[in-house]
Amino acid sequence: MNFSPADPDSIATESNNAVEFHDYSVTDSDFLGEVLSGLSRTPKAISPKYLYDQQGSVLFDKICELPEYYPARTETGIFRDNVDDIAHHIGEECILVELGSGSSEKIRVLLESFRPNQYLGVDISKEFLLEATQSLADDYPWLEVHAVCADFSSELTLPPHCNTDSVVAFYPGSSIGNFHTDEAIAFMRQIHGLVGIGGQLLIGVDLKKDEQVLHGAYNDKAGVTAAFNLNLLHRINRELGADIDVEKFQHEAFYNESKGRVEMHLVSITNQAFMIGQKKFSLATGDSIHTESSYKYSLQEFAKIAGQSGFQVRKVWTDQNDYFSAQLLVAI
Ligand code: AVJ
Repeated sequence: MNFSPADPDSIATESNNAVEFHDYSVTDSDFLGEVLSGLSRTPKAISPKYLYDQQGSVLFDKICELPEYYPARTETGIFRDNVDDIAHHIGEECILVELGSGSSEKIRVLLESFRPNQYLGVDISKEFLLEATQSLADDYPWLEVHAVCADFSSELTLPPHCNTDSVVAFYPGSSIGNFHTDEAIAFMRQIHGLVGIGGQLLIGVDLKKDEQVLHGAYNDKAGVTAAFNLNLLHRINRELGADIDVEKFQHEAFYNESKGRVEMHLVSITNQAFMIGQKKFSLATGDSIHTESSYKYSLQEFAKIAGQSGFQVRKVWTDQNDYFSAQLLVAI
């Protein structure tokens, strides 16, 4: 994410609290190129970021409501139960930067007792971002709200007009779990650069736990996670003009204990062939496309990653079952 200078446009609304919009979205990511190369590799894999088109985002929101999917609910509970202590530790007069703000729902729990000077929601999905930040601005008239449309996979910098208050990055949802270890460290180093020495990162980290709980969370009875995973194939058909018969694939998710991660795959249930553009792909029964890894950490493992990224863990809040953690890190 590179916020190079640009004139922020204020969005005209009926509310008194207008959102300042900064558009740093760059060229669309190379979906076709990544799908073609991902399916030509062994093992086949496509980046989980492509699960989140509009339909994927709707399905993900539904996942968060599922009884089996403990992370969303547990994290919100941790924030709610500890909001005063979290606010106390974060301190006053800060700029809060939410990375991948999506629907900007989680921050609401914290805003009850925590009053940052500014809130910056950063997300790649423009429509979602504008809607979510405006609704936040309407509901919290005292809050200065900025919407930053950007892909934060490259460089992280703040819009130029921000003052020198302490910067606190907010990265909830255990999205960090989607990164492999080296990527997670690289990404957290970027956040370190964004907040600067003494700046902080409030991050949601999913913890290692009983395998059955993990299995259930990614194999819900209603089949929403399956639909979320299979939507990637529909998206390839929709956007890349492919002719994949989605019925010939099956959702699979399991805990890979040696790697400490839940893996999601799309597995071919028959011998099949399909075209994406000019390229033909042939899959045999049982061939799989790896679509997501969701790493689960022990507190020690995550403290090590934090350390390797230039952060120190200041405080960890967990739930009764130790399923999930909210962690406040300080950049040293
Ligand atoms: C958004 C990455 C935290 O890994 O649990 C939910 C995505 N995948 N169900 C996760 C997801 C399948 C989720 N994260």
